[in-house]
Amino acid sequence: MLKELANLHKLCFPHKPWSADDFGDLKKSGCEIIASQNGFIVYRTTLDEAEIITIGVHPDARRTGIGVALLGVMEADLKKSGVKHIFLEVAADNTPARALYEQNGFVQIGVRPRYYDGVDAIMMRKDI
Ligand SMILES: CC(C)(COP(=O)(O)OP(=O)(O)OC[C@H]1O[C@@H](n2cnc3c(N)ncnc32)[C@H](O)[C@@H]1OP(=O)(O)O)[C@@H](O)C(=O)NCCC(=O)NCCS
Repeated sequence: MLKELANLHKLCFPHKPWSADDFGDLKKSGCEIIASQNGFIVYRTTLDEAEIITIGVHPDARRTGIGVALLGVMEADLKKSGVKHIFLEVAADNTPARALYEQNGFVQIGVRPRYYDGVDAIMMRKDI
């Protein structure tokens, strides 16, 4: 399963692929991973807060609602665990991801200038 995840991650993030061992380490460190054949989301919970570490959908399966579905499954799981706030950071120039998050109720709460190789990181939050 971790190898399939690594293969899918490479298609989603060709310039910064994570290995199966990287995913194994994330799991060992307490991260949750929800994955299907065409998408994955990784997140971490601390008390009543959660942070989305990453989300990706196979390039051939985008704009079919998988991103929204992954966020929805995660959110349902977090609500059951008593989580109240979800945080994330996204590159300012990542239009698809920013649109996905905004459409799903995340609001901008700050900016980390030049955080990703010279590109600003937009910090976002959703209260659930
Ligand atoms: C961001 C990503 C996960 C979106 O996944 P997706 O399954 O295509 O998203 P959905 O089909 O659920 O789209 C939901 C909404 O997000 C917005 N959206 C998604 N992709 C978009 C795009 N390319 N341009 C504009 N809006 C977009 C739209 O509002 C869309 O609703 P609509 O299709 O009804 O208009 C996907 O593009 C991806 O894997 N990107 C590469 C990895 C990445 O950058 N991850 C985020 C790191 S922070």
